[in-house]
Amino acid sequence: MLHYEPKEISSPEFHKLLLGGVGLRPIALVLTLSPDGKNNLSPFSFFNAFGVNPPMIAFSPARRGKDASLKDTYSNLIVTKECVVQSVTFSMVEQISLASTEYPTGVDEFLKSGLTPVDSDIVKPKRVKESPFQMECRLVEMKSYGESGGSANIAICEVLKIHVAEDIFTNGIIDPNKIDLVGRMSGNFYCRANGKAIFEVKKPIGTKGIGYDHLPDLLKKSNIFTANNLAKLANVESIPDKKSVKAFIAELSKENFEGFEANEEAFCRYQRQSNYKYMMKMNIKFINENHPKAKYFTELTAKCALENNDSDYAWKVILTPEYFGNQP
Ligand SMILES: Cc1cc2nc3c(=O)[nH]c(=O)nc-3n(C[C@H](O)[C@H](O)[C@H](O)COP(=O)(O)O)c2cc1C
Repeated sequence: MLHYEPKEISSPEFHKLLLGGVGLRPIALVLTLSPDGKNNLSPFSFFNAFGVNPPMIAFSPARRGKDASLKDTYSNLIVTKECVVQSVTFSMVEQISLASTEYPTGVDEFLKSGLTPVDSDIVKPKRVKESPFQMECRLVEMKSYGESGGSANIAICEVLKIHVAEDIFTNGIIDPNKIDLVGRMSGNFYCRANGKAIFEVKKPIGTKGIGYDHLPDLLKKSNIFTANNLAKLANVESIPDKKSVKAFIAELSKENFEGFEANEEAFCRYQRQSNYKYMMKMNIKFINENHPKAKYFTELTAKCALENNDSDYAWKVILTPEYFGNQP
């Protein structure tokens, strides 16, 4: 590890580290009005939401690195106390980058970025039509820490009204694939929350997982299971008992596995297809035959089930050799 205290390196270097380590940051596209009514549009990735009752968000229009001067967003907000904050999607990322250009005070970044203004309902600053998620906000407090280049000003705002595009929902929640958000990382890097980058982690709400400490050592010593695999196994409320493993095996022998082939090559093919049910079917054969690789195949099958979010199945796979009196 490398170790730094802020006094040991320059602020830009410390800033670079923060930007790299504190990511993927959501991006707020902030619309404010100057006291004489001119639009000001700028992105800020030191941004997040904090609580809901009342709904609060905060972002940081820091002092400029080069001369410690205050950004227009800060100067506008301090006087007008209103802003509209919108989420940034992949389809508008180049435009918001353009809007971050340090144009002279008073230049309308709507004109520069090509984004479209639409009227808000409660506050004076406009909304950005291209964003599917827009929040009308009131400044509650501006906190400032330091007066040097890069010093933070934190604009703490209450959300007064949200505008959301109806086509980004699936089953009542905002679908990450539909909203297609982007986040900021180190340097010039962004990331796009879409496709394979999105995955689900089951929340242990209302349940108490058995915990890592209750996993058999045999599993913890395995070279096949990753720490994430083991944490999924530890997130179940109880380990299936022998009776349910027996029922699981009986069920497997009843099921009709169409086109099922039983050889190592087919096992690898099923693995590539994430077809852990066919892998398991073959596994039973390997265990029965005392195949030298039976333990390995058992673990691969359980791993495949885990990676498909089927922890109960994975546990039953792991416990099957025990049922046959053949510890994995
Ligand atoms: C994606 C992105 C994220 C940014 N995040 C921040 C930030 O969190 N804080 C900040 O002070 N500047 C940030 N900037 C730079 C400002 O957008 C830039 O300084 C802008 O010109 C400020 O405009 P203003 O003077 O109109 O407020 C960011 C720029 C981009 C492109």
